[in-house]
Amino acid sequence: MNESFKRKILCIGAGYVGGPTMAMIAHKCPQYKVTVVDINPDRINEWNSENLPIYEPGLYEIVKSSRGKNLFFHTDVKKGIQESDIIFVSVNTPTKTFGVGAGMAADLQYWEKTARQILECSQSPKIIVEKSTLPVKTALAMERILSSANSGIHFEVLSNPEFLAEGTAIKDLENPDRVLIGSSQTESGLKARDELVEIYQNWVPRKQIITSNIWSSELSKLVANAFLAQRISSINSISDLCEKTDADISEVAHAIGMDSRIGDRFLKASVGFGGSCFKKDILNLVYLCRNYGLTEVADYWESVVRINEYQKERFILNMLKAMFNTLADKKICLLGFAFKADTGDTRETPALYIANKLLEENAKLIISDPKALKNAKKDLKGAQGDISYVEDPYVAAKGCHALAILTEWALYAELDYQKIYNSMEKPAFLFDGRNIVSHQELHKIGFNVYPIGKPALKHF
Ligand code: UDX
Ligand code: UDX
Repeated sequence: MNESFKRKILCIGAGYVGGPTMAMIAHKCPQYKVTVVDINPDRINEWNSENLPIYEPGLYEIVKSSRGKNLFFHTDVKKGIQESDIIFVSVNTPTKTFGVGAGMAADLQYWEKTARQILECSQSPKIIVEKSTLPVKTALAMERILSSANSGIHFEVLSNPEFLAEGTAIKDLENPDRVLIGSSQTESGLKARDELVEIYQNWVPRKQIITSNIWSSELSKLVANAFLAQRISSINSISDLCEKTDADISEVAHAIGMDSRIGDRFLKASVGFGGSCFKKDILNLVYLCRNYGLTEVADYWESVVRINEYQKERFILNMLKAMFNTLADKKICLLGFAFKADTGDTRETPALYIANKLLEENAKLIISDPKALKNAKKDLKGAQGDISYVEDPYVAAKGCHALAILTEWALYAELDYQKIYNSMEKPAFLFDGRNIVSHQELHKIGFNVYPIGKPALKHF
């Protein structure tokens, strides 16, 4: 093995963020040795196999190009720490489920254990890079833990939040809008920052690598996600009004999006946003504001999450009302379970809420998704009711009373809906939670169509 690497990079946490990010660094920087460790041996085995633990277009090719050369996956965290110069920390920081701040604050237990383990195992100075999204001022806590033993070893903590979105992770990593690096403004802080800048400069233009103080960097990550989620809740709130009037949310989004100050991206009305980050990060922001006594600010951001819950509730109520106020024993086909297209991830997916509510109404569920069925089964393990999982959408829809499109998979826009309609119970209903099919055409075929943010097209 070539041991003459410029520097040795370690990443702790081989998840959705750590895995692809390290694969990209290894791919673009053959002069660095990149090792990814995780406490979960199954995950590591998958990273070392042909079936990676996550589905991301283009990821496998990048992993394959570097794995075994300058990219390694294993479970020996201690050895990994000892051998490395730069450590990215990318362990999960879920919302706390217990004690003070339950349901709001970030659960920092894995993160703190990791900090202590770094301290315990280190024999040489290191740069520690926070990749996990964390409350503001966490780097300070990290620094305090790392200097608590007076070991004489210098640790420099940087913040380098990840802005990649799932499904486009490789594209986002390869061509990021910006890379953000926060550091202390001390001589050693700036030196460490420059080392990280140097790594990214292997493929990201320097002007897109922005630097800031460490607290701005930590806060920017939370705020970026809060702003993105706020746009979706804003458009979703207006979708409700559109359904009551003769306005069409797509036309409204188009009209406002052409104002360059508003912009046209992230204005798609939907059944609600999901994913591991938006809700968690907003609640984290809300908790932070409440901690500082900023009640109005906290309430403002919390309403983004409230509207998202409301949008999911509304979707179910619309289904119930449209289908004569009873769903008992009706067969309902969910087209899509992932929280968005091009990923198998189902964390915080609106589909899980919808599925559970439909089961409460005693509906029979047929769940279809090209990539997320494995996770859907895990999520619904223990749920009471009649659920089947069928990948082929034509087989899934057969004999159903209704279809509900919950993920914007491109394939759902291209299905032969005449064929599907012919195989369904009548009257046939379609609830388009992503506005991806042609509502007029489906109505012509015979469906009763219920889009988001547009008046329903009915036959009675
Ligand atoms: C995580 C955080 O959820 C997010 O806030 C942050 O921005 C980046 O890291 P993600 O990569 O999506 O995001 O999480 P996940 O896929 O759950 O991966 C975390 C990994 O860390 C898991 O594979 C877990 O086994 C591992 N881990 C966790 C450790 O290796 N050590 C620990 O002590 C805890
Ligand atoms: C998000 C951020 O985009 C990313 O920068 C950050 O690093 C992690 O969190 P991700 O959750 O992977 O990424 O996906 P994203 O594309 O942001 O979508 C989040 C949710 O919003 C999905 O459920 C998606 O379907 C929904 N969405 C998105 C809408 O409902 N309408 C839109 O217009 C855009």
